[in-house]
Amino acid sequence: MNPEDHVIDVEGLSKSFGKHQALQGIDLRVPRGHVLGLLGPNGAGKTTAVRVLTTLLRPDSGRVRVAGHDVVTDPGAVRRSIGLSGQYAAVDEKLTGFENLRMVGRLYGMNRRQATERARELLRRFRLSDAADQRSVAYSGGMRRRLDLAGALVARPEVVVLDEPTTGLDPRGRMDTWEVVSALVEDGTTVLLTTQYLEEADQLSDTIVVIDKGVVIARGSADALKEHIGGSRMDFVLADAADLDSAAGIVADHGSGRPETDRGARRLSVATSGGQTSLTHALAALERGGVPVVEVALRRPTLDEVFLELTGQDEKAAVPAPAAGGPR
Ligand SMILES: Nc1ncnc2c1ncn2[C@@H]1O[C@H](COP(=O)(O)OP(=O)(O)OP(=O)(O)O)[C@@H](O)[C@H]1O
Ligand SMILES: [Mg+2]
Repeated sequence: MNPEDHVIDVEGLSKSFGKHQALQGIDLRVPRGHVLGLLGPNGAGKTTAVRVLTTLLRPDSGRVRVAGHDVVTDPGAVRRSIGLSGQYAAVDEKLTGFENLRMVGRLYGMNRRQATERARELLRRFRLSDAADQRSVAYSGGMRRRLDLAGALVARPEVVVLDEPTTGLDPRGRMDTWEVVSALVEDGTTVLLTTQYLEEADQLSDTIVVIDKGVVIARGSADALKEHIGGSRMDFVLADAADLDSAAGIVADHGSGRPETDRGARRLSVATSGGQTSLTHALAALERGGVPVVEVALRRPTLDEVFLELTGQDEKAAVPAPAAGGPR
């Protein structure tokens, strides 16, 4: 392939399961050495896209090329170019961590010494050296994820595909994964990773593509996405939670979208593109409406709010709270 070609090149990819259209014509283009963050809520189609890219699933239509090879006509060449770490860790529980990685190396044609060295190196990198000789059935969820990720890197593939690499990891495990991804990129590896956390996509990716219900709904940097949904948020803390519903009705006229209420905190929050002017008008309207306000704020949206605005999902469904101290 030409150096200027995209290492991952997806055009019009569609895939249905029965009547359900999991992917409805998505386009993705990733240059060499770049990280693409594929972001979306549960059921968006992330894993389906990953499975097509890694030849585990045949596309219904569209063109999908990885490292210059077509996934339909040349799946073997695609497989030789990629390392995959799945959403559900694929480790052989009967084997130790070391044996798992050495086996992968042997499968990729390394000799015994090379496979052993590579396994030891990766175990160190993922802080699994102490558990190297334990059967992986005894590993915690986070240790399995790390072992699975290490397995994807054994053969130093030119393309690495990571499906929710940090889901279920503690904050330390997340940081390790982020470091590994950064190191991969320094080596010139091309990475596609999926995540449900905009913050994580922002940290790791050169470009973010947001998909929802099998359709690309936005692309760009996290800042560009913030710009795209526009403006800021107005927050009001009321003296009395009983006023929340009437206040939401009043504030709705001065914001964009539906105001969100947090009863426990007596807080009301709404997006606005009108900045300070909208805030002033909303406050005046609340005063006319006889709603006492004890706190106000005009602020940039959080990344979670951007994500929710883009995908229009209920918070609990779209963004499961990560472990304390994890990416928000
Ligand atoms: N093998 C299958 N058979 C039938 N439906 C499927 C199959 N695989 C996925 N789907 C459906 O396709 C849609 C997309 O699923 P997919 O697993 O790609 O989503 P996802 O973005 O990876 O979600 P999550 O964040 O939960 O992992 C979902 O509605 C899912 O139920
Ligand atoms: Mg998935």
